[in-house]
Amino acid sequence: SVKELSEAPSFTSLPQFLVSHNPRERGELEPVCDADQEIPAVDFDLLVNGSPDQRSQVVRELGRACRDWGFFMVVNHGVCEGLTEAMKQTFAEFFDLTAEEKGEYEDDGVRVMSPIRVGTSFNTAVDKVRYWRDYLKIIVHPVFHSPAKPPTFRDISQEYTTRMRALGTEILKGIWESLGLDGAGMTLALNLNSCFQILVANLYPPCPQPELAMGLPPHSDYGLLTVLCQNGVDGLQVKHEGKWIPVKPRPNSFLVNIGDQMEIVSNGRYKSVLHRAVLSGKSTRMSIVTLLAPSLETVVAPAPLLVSSKNPAAFRGMRFGDFIEYQQSNRLKDKSVLDLLR
Ligand code: SIN
Ligand code: FE2
Repeated sequence: SVKELSEAPSFTSLPQFLVSHNPRERGELEPVCDADQEIPAVDFDLLVNGSPDQRSQVVRELGRACRDWGFFMVVNHGVCEGLTEAMKQTFAEFFDLTAEEKGEYEDDGVRVMSPIRVGTSFNTAVDKVRYWRDYLKIIVHPVFHSPAKPPTFRDISQEYTTRMRALGTEILKGIWESLGLDGAGMTLALNLNSCFQILVANLYPPCPQPELAMGLPPHSDYGLLTVLCQNGVDGLQVKHEGKWIPVKPRPNSFLVNIGDQMEIVSNGRYKSVLHRAVLSGKSTRMSIVTLLAPSLETVVAPAPLLVSSKNPAAFRGMRFGDFIEYQQSNRLKDKSVLDLLR
Protein backbone atom coordinates (compact mmCIF):
# COMPACT_ATOMS: atom_id res chain seq x y z
CA SER A 1 0.00 0.00 0.00
CA VAL A 2 1.03 3.59 -0.51
CA LYS A 3 0.50 4.13 3.20
CA GLU A 4 3.11 1.51 4.14
CA LEU A 5 5.51 2.82 1.54
CA SER A 6 5.15 6.37 2.83
CA GLU A 7 5.81 5.24 6.39
CA ALA A 8 8.94 3.22 5.57
CA PRO A 9 12.02 4.67 7.26
CA SER A 10 14.31 6.53 4.84
CA PHE A 11 11.68 6.72 2.11
CA THR A 12 12.36 9.99 0.31
CA SER A 13 11.96 9.53 -3.42
CA LEU A 14 9.31 7.89 -5.53
CA PRO A 15 9.92 4.53 -7.21
CA GLN A 16 9.43 4.64 -10.99
CA PHE A 17 6.08 2.83 -10.95
CA LEU A 18 4.59 5.81 -9.14
CA VAL A 19 6.03 8.51 -11.37
CA SER A 20 3.61 9.82 -13.96
CA HIS A 21 5.13 10.86 -17.28
CA ASN A 22 1.88 12.23 -18.59
CA PRO A 23 1.97 16.00 -18.02
CA ARG A 24 -1.79 16.30 -18.44
CA GLU A 25 -2.47 13.64 -15.83
CA ARG A 26 0.06 15.35 -13.60
CA GLY A 27 -2.01 18.46 -14.04
CA GLU A 28 0.58 20.62 -15.78
CA LEU A 29 -1.24 21.56 -18.98
CA GLU A 30 -4.47 23.12 -17.82
CA PRO A 31 -4.96 26.23 -15.72
CA VAL A 32 -5.92 26.01 -12.05
CA CYS A 33 -8.24 28.76 -10.89
CA ASP A 34 -6.65 30.70 -8.06
CA ALA A 35 -9.57 32.97 -7.16
CA ASP A 36 -12.03 31.67 -4.58
CA GLN A 37 -15.05 30.36 -6.49
CA GLU A 38 -18.61 30.55 -5.24
CA ILE A 39 -19.64 26.93 -5.65
CA PRO A 40 -23.47 26.73 -5.53
CA ALA A 41 -24.96 25.60 -2.24
CA VAL A 42 -28.20 23.67 -1.94
CA ASP A 43 -30.20 23.86 1.29
CA PHE A 44 -31.34 20.30 1.92
CA ASP A 45 -33.65 21.23 4.79
CA LEU A 46 -35.58 23.66 2.59
CA LEU A 47 -35.77 21.05 -0.16
CA VAL A 48 -37.43 18.44 2.04
CA ASN A 49 -39.11 20.45 4.82
CA GLY A 50 -39.75 23.82 3.19
CA SER A 51 -43.11 25.18 1.99
CA PRO A 52 -44.09 24.29 -1.60
CA ASP A 53 -42.78 27.69 -2.70
CA GLN A 54 -39.48 27.19 -0.92
CA ARG A 55 -39.13 23.73 -2.42
CA SER A 56 -39.78 25.04 -5.94
CA GLN A 57 -37.15 27.69 -5.38
CA VAL A 58 -34.56 25.12 -4.22
CA VAL A 59 -35.45 22.82 -7.14
CA ARG A 60 -34.78 25.69 -9.55
CA GLU A 61 -31.42 26.39 -7.87
CA LEU A 62 -30.61 22.68 -7.98
CA GLY A 63 -31.40 22.60 -11.69
CA ARG A 64 -29.17 25.62 -12.35
CA ALA A 65 -26.32 24.08 -10.35
CA CYS A 66 -26.64 20.80 -12.27
CA ARG A 67 -26.77 22.56 -15.64
CA ASP A 68 -24.07 25.19 -15.09
CA TRP A 69 -21.67 23.39 -12.74
CA GLY A 70 -22.46 19.70 -12.39
CA PHE A 71 -21.57 19.94 -8.72
CA PHE A 72 -22.78 21.72 -5.60
CA MET A 73 -22.42 21.78 -1.83
CA VAL A 74 -25.26 20.40 0.27
CA VAL A 75 -25.79 22.33 3.48
CA ASN A 76 -28.34 21.88 6.29
CA HIS A 77 -28.33 18.19 5.47
CA GLY A 78 -29.21 16.97 8.96
CA VAL A 79 -26.55 14.24 9.05
CA CYS A 80 -24.96 14.48 12.45
CA GLU A 81 -21.29 15.38 12.43
CA GLY A 82 -20.57 12.66 14.99
CA LEU A 83 -21.62 9.99 12.48
CA THR A 84 -19.41 11.39 9.71
CA GLU A 85 -16.48 11.68 12.11
CA ALA A 86 -17.03 8.10 13.32
CA MET A 87 -17.05 6.93 9.68
CA LYS A 88 -13.72 8.66 8.99
CA GLN A 89 -12.25 7.26 12.19
CA THR A 90 -13.27 3.69 11.46
CA PHE A 91 -11.92 3.92 7.88
CA ALA A 92 -8.63 5.19 9.33
CA GLU A 93 -8.57 2.18 11.65
CA PHE A 94 -9.17 -0.11 8.68
CA PHE A 95 -6.21 1.37 6.77
CA ASP A 96 -4.09 0.86 9.90
CA LEU A 97 -4.71 -2.92 9.87
CA THR A 98 -1.76 -5.11 8.88
CA ALA A 99 -1.18 -6.11 5.25
CA GLU A 100 -2.22 -9.67 6.20
CA GLU A 101 -5.50 -8.49 7.68
CA LYS A 102 -6.34 -6.43 4.59
CA GLY A 103 -4.94 -9.07 2.23
CA GLU A 104 -8.14 -11.09 1.86
CA TYR A 105 -9.77 -8.13 0.11
CA GLU A 106 -6.82 -7.35 -2.15
CA ASP A 107 -7.87 -6.15 -5.60
CA ASP A 108 -6.58 -8.37 -8.40
CA GLY A 109 -7.84 -6.05 -11.15
CA VAL A 110 -10.01 -8.85 -12.52
CA ARG A 111 -12.84 -9.57 -10.08
CA VAL A 112 -14.00 -5.98 -10.29
CA MET A 113 -17.44 -6.68 -8.82
CA SER A 114 -16.17 -8.27 -5.58
CA PRO A 115 -18.19 -6.67 -2.79
CA ILE A 116 -15.14 -5.56 -0.79
CA ARG A 117 -11.92 -4.48 -2.48
CA VAL A 118 -8.74 -2.96 -1.16
CA GLY A 119 -6.01 -1.61 -3.38
CA THR A 120 -3.69 1.09 -4.58
CA SER A 121 -4.05 2.96 -7.85
CA PHE A 122 -7.31 2.28 -9.79
CA ASN A 123 -7.03 -1.04 -11.59
CA THR A 124 -3.57 -2.55 -11.20
CA ALA A 125 -4.14 -4.97 -14.07
CA VAL A 126 -4.20 -2.09 -16.56
CA ASP A 127 -2.55 0.92 -14.89
CA LYS A 128 0.97 1.42 -16.15
CA VAL A 129 1.70 4.01 -13.50
CA ARG A 130 0.21 3.54 -10.07
CA TYR A 131 -1.58 6.33 -8.24
CA TRP A 132 -0.61 7.64 -4.86
CA ARG A 133 -3.83 6.46 -3.26
CA ASP A 134 -5.03 3.53 -1.21
CA TYR A 135 -8.70 2.67 -1.32
CA LEU A 136 -11.34 0.49 0.23
CA LYS A 137 -14.47 -0.02 -1.88
CA ILE A 138 -17.56 -1.70 -0.49
CA ILE A 139 -20.88 -2.51 -2.15
CA VAL A 140 -23.46 -1.55 0.48
CA HIS A 141 -26.77 -1.82 -1.41
CA PRO A 142 -28.98 -3.65 -2.41
CA VAL A 143 -26.96 -6.12 -0.31
CA PHE A 144 -24.95 -4.67 2.55
CA HIS A 145 -21.34 -5.78 3.01
CA SER A 146 -18.73 -4.89 5.60
CA PRO A 147 -15.20 -5.99 6.45
CA ALA A 148 -15.07 -7.84 9.77
CA LYS A 149 -12.40 -5.50 11.18
CA PRO A 150 -12.29 -3.06 12.85
CA PRO A 151 -15.20 -4.34 14.95
CA THR A 152 -17.05 -1.00 14.85
CA PHE A 153 -17.02 -0.89 11.05
CA ARG A 154 -20.26 -2.75 10.38
CA ASP A 155 -22.57 -0.69 12.59
CA ILE A 156 -21.10 2.68 11.70
CA SER A 157 -21.01 2.05 7.96
CA GLN A 158 -24.54 0.64 8.00
CA GLU A 159 -25.86 3.78 9.64
CA TYR A 160 -23.76 6.11 7.48
CA THR A 161 -24.68 4.47 4.19
CA THR A 162 -28.39 4.38 5.09
CA ARG A 163 -28.26 8.12 5.78
CA MET A 164 -26.35 8.79 2.56
CA ARG A 165 -28.87 6.78 0.54
CA ALA A 166 -31.76 8.76 2.03
CA LEU A 167 -29.97 12.05 1.36
CA GLY A 168 -29.03 11.08 -2.18
CA THR A 169 -32.51 9.81 -3.00
CA GLU A 170 -34.11 13.09 -1.92
CA ILE A 171 -31.60 15.07 -3.99
CA LEU A 172 -32.32 12.81 -6.97
CA LYS A 173 -36.06 13.53 -6.61
CA GLY A 174 -35.32 17.25 -6.68
CA ILE A 175 -33.15 16.79 -9.77
CA TRP A 176 -35.88 14.82 -11.60
CA GLU A 177 -38.31 17.60 -10.76
CA SER A 178 -35.91 20.20 -12.11
CA LEU A 179 -35.96 18.29 -15.42
CA GLY A 180 -39.76 18.17 -15.44
CA LEU A 181 -39.74 14.43 -14.70
CA ASP A 182 -41.88 12.63 -12.15
CA GLY A 183 -39.96 11.40 -9.09
CA ALA A 184 -42.03 8.28 -8.47
CA GLY A 185 -41.86 7.30 -12.14
CA MET A 186 -38.08 7.70 -12.21
CA THR A 187 -37.67 5.65 -9.03
CA LEU A 188 -39.54 2.85 -10.78
CA ALA A 189 -37.86 3.22 -14.17
CA LEU A 190 -34.35 3.11 -12.68
CA ASN A 191 -35.22 0.52 -9.99
CA LEU A 192 -33.93 2.89 -7.34
CA ASN A 193 -35.48 0.86 -4.53
CA SER A 194 -32.78 -1.67 -5.26
CA CYS A 195 -30.26 0.97 -6.31
CA PHE A 196 -26.60 0.12 -6.54
CA GLN A 197 -24.69 1.97 -3.83
CA ILE A 198 -20.99 1.85 -3.12
CA LEU A 199 -18.96 3.31 -0.27
CA VAL A 200 -15.33 4.17 -0.98
CA ALA A 201 -12.61 5.63 1.17
CA ASN A 202 -9.58 7.13 -0.53
CA LEU A 203 -6.42 7.64 1.48
CA TYR A 204 -3.67 9.92 0.13
CA PRO A 205 -0.69 9.86 2.52
CA PRO A 206 1.83 12.74 2.48
CA CYS A 207 3.84 12.37 -0.71
CA PRO A 208 7.58 13.18 -0.76
CA GLN A 209 7.40 14.33 -4.41
CA PRO A 210 3.79 15.40 -4.93
CA GLU A 211 4.51 17.03 -8.28
CA LEU A 212 5.65 13.72 -9.80
CA ALA A 213 2.77 11.47 -8.79
CA MET A 214 -0.98 11.40 -9.30
CA GLY A 215 -3.69 11.13 -6.70
CA LEU A 216 -6.49 10.41 -9.12
CA PRO A 217 -6.32 11.50 -12.79
CA PRO A 218 -9.17 13.48 -14.40
CA HIS A 219 -12.32 11.34 -14.59
CA SER A 220 -16.08 11.43 -14.28
CA ASP A 221 -17.99 9.15 -11.89
CA TYR A 222 -20.05 6.33 -13.34
CA GLY A 223 -23.23 6.61 -11.24
CA LEU A 224 -26.16 9.01 -11.06
CA LEU A 225 -24.81 11.04 -8.15
CA THR A 226 -21.72 11.07 -5.98
CA VAL A 227 -21.83 12.43 -2.43
CA LEU A 228 -18.38 13.28 -1.13
CA CYS A 229 -17.09 14.01 2.33
CA GLN A 230 -13.48 15.10 2.85
CA ASN A 231 -11.28 15.43 5.89
CA GLY A 232 -9.85 18.93 6.27
CA VAL A 233 -7.09 18.52 3.67
CA ASP A 234 -7.19 20.09 0.18
CA GLY A 235 -6.68 18.06 -2.98
CA LEU A 236 -9.96 17.77 -4.88
CA GLN A 237 -10.22 19.82 -8.06
CA VAL A 238 -13.28 20.03 -10.29
CA LYS A 239 -13.32 21.17 -13.92
CA HIS A 240 -15.46 24.21 -14.59
CA GLU A 241 -15.42 26.31 -17.75
CA GLY A 242 -12.03 25.03 -18.81
CA LYS A 243 -10.31 25.56 -15.47
CA TRP A 244 -9.58 23.34 -12.51
CA ILE A 245 -11.23 24.64 -9.37
CA PRO A 246 -9.81 23.55 -6.02
CA VAL A 247 -12.71 22.57 -3.78
CA LYS A 248 -11.91 23.52 -0.21
CA PRO A 249 -13.38 21.08 2.28
CA ARG A 250 -16.11 23.09 3.98
CA PRO A 251 -17.01 21.97 7.47
CA ASN A 252 -20.29 20.15 7.81
CA SER A 253 -21.24 20.02 4.17
CA PHE A 254 -21.17 17.40 1.43
CA LEU A 255 -20.10 17.91 -2.13
CA VAL A 256 -22.42 16.33 -4.69
CA ASN A 257 -21.54 15.80 -8.32
CA ILE A 258 -23.39 14.53 -11.37
CA GLY A 259 -22.29 11.16 -12.74
CA ASP A 260 -22.41 9.49 -16.16
CA GLN A 261 -25.80 7.76 -15.67
CA MET A 262 -27.40 11.15 -14.97
CA GLU A 263 -25.90 12.56 -18.15
CA ILE A 264 -27.45 9.65 -20.05
CA VAL A 265 -30.89 9.85 -18.37
CA SER A 266 -31.06 13.63 -18.76
CA ASN A 267 -30.13 13.23 -22.44
CA GLY A 268 -27.06 15.39 -21.92
CA ARG A 269 -28.77 18.29 -20.13
CA TYR A 270 -26.83 17.62 -16.95
CA LYS A 271 -23.27 16.60 -17.67
CA SER A 272 -21.09 14.41 -15.52
CA VAL A 273 -18.25 16.53 -14.26
CA LEU A 274 -14.51 15.90 -14.52
CA HIS A 275 -12.58 15.96 -11.28
CA ARG A 276 -9.18 14.83 -10.00
CA ALA A 277 -7.21 14.54 -6.78
CA VAL A 278 -3.86 16.26 -6.45
CA LEU A 279 -1.35 15.49 -3.71
CA SER A 280 0.14 17.25 -0.79
CA GLY A 281 3.59 16.86 0.66
CA LYS A 282 2.47 17.40 4.23
CA SER A 283 -0.81 15.93 5.32
CA THR A 284 -2.81 12.77 4.88
CA ARG A 285 -5.99 13.40 2.96
CA MET A 286 -9.03 11.17 3.22
CA SER A 287 -12.16 11.35 1.13
CA ILE A 288 -15.27 9.27 1.65
CA VAL A 289 -17.33 8.70 -1.45
CA THR A 290 -20.92 7.49 -1.74
CA LEU A 291 -21.99 6.59 -5.21
CA LEU A 292 -25.65 6.02 -6.07
CA ALA A 293 -26.68 4.35 -9.30
CA PRO A 294 -29.57 2.43 -10.86
CA SER A 295 -29.83 -1.28 -10.08
CA LEU A 296 -27.30 -3.38 -12.01
CA GLU A 297 -30.03 -4.88 -14.23
CA THR A 298 -31.44 -1.53 -15.37
CA VAL A 299 -30.91 -0.57 -18.98
CA VAL A 300 -30.16 3.15 -18.69
CA ALA A 301 -31.17 5.36 -21.61
CA PRO A 302 -32.31 8.97 -22.07
CA ALA A 303 -35.70 9.60 -20.41
CA PRO A 304 -38.34 9.42 -23.20
CA LEU A 305 -39.81 12.79 -22.12
CA LEU A 306 -36.46 14.46 -22.83
CA VAL A 307 -36.13 13.02 -26.32
CA SER A 308 -37.83 14.70 -29.28
CA SER A 309 -37.13 15.39 -32.94
CA LYS A 310 -35.42 18.59 -31.81
CA ASN A 311 -33.45 16.75 -29.11
CA PRO A 312 -32.71 13.28 -30.46
CA ALA A 313 -31.30 10.69 -28.04
CA ALA A 314 -27.67 11.61 -27.37
CA PHE A 315 -26.79 8.15 -26.02
CA ARG A 316 -27.72 4.59 -26.70
CA GLY A 317 -28.96 2.55 -23.77
CA MET A 318 -26.74 0.18 -21.83
CA ARG A 319 -27.31 -2.16 -18.92
CA PHE A 320 -25.78 -0.41 -15.92
CA GLY A 321 -24.07 -3.61 -14.71
CA ASP A 322 -22.20 -3.80 -18.03
CA PHE A 323 -21.25 -0.13 -17.86
CA ILE A 324 -19.72 -0.38 -14.39
CA GLU A 325 -17.93 -3.63 -15.09
CA TYR A 326 -16.31 -2.13 -18.17
CA GLN A 327 -15.48 1.10 -16.33
CA GLN A 328 -13.81 -0.74 -13.45
CA SER A 329 -11.83 -3.02 -15.79
CA ASN A 330 -10.21 -0.18 -17.71
CA ARG A 331 -8.03 2.80 -16.99
CA LEU A 332 -9.61 5.75 -15.29
CA LYS A 333 -9.60 8.35 -18.01
CA ASP A 334 -11.83 11.38 -18.53
CA LYS A 335 -15.30 10.31 -19.71
CA SER A 336 -13.99 7.46 -21.83
CA VAL A 337 -16.71 4.91 -21.02
CA LEU A 338 -19.61 7.34 -21.43
CA ASP A 339 -18.10 8.51 -24.72
CA LEU A 340 -18.58 5.00 -26.14
CA LEU A 341 -22.36 5.43 -25.91
CA ARG A 342 -22.62 8.71 -27.78
C1 SIN B 1 -13.11 10.35 -6.37
O1 SIN B 1 -13.05 10.97 -7.41
O2 SIN B 1 -13.63 9.24 -6.31
C2 SIN B 1 -12.57 10.92 -5.09
C3 SIN B 1 -11.93 12.22 -5.26
C4 SIN B 1 -11.40 12.69 -3.93
O3 SIN B 1 -10.52 12.07 -3.37
O4 SIN B 1 -11.89 13.71 -3.45
FE1 FE2 C 1 -14.56 10.42 -8.75
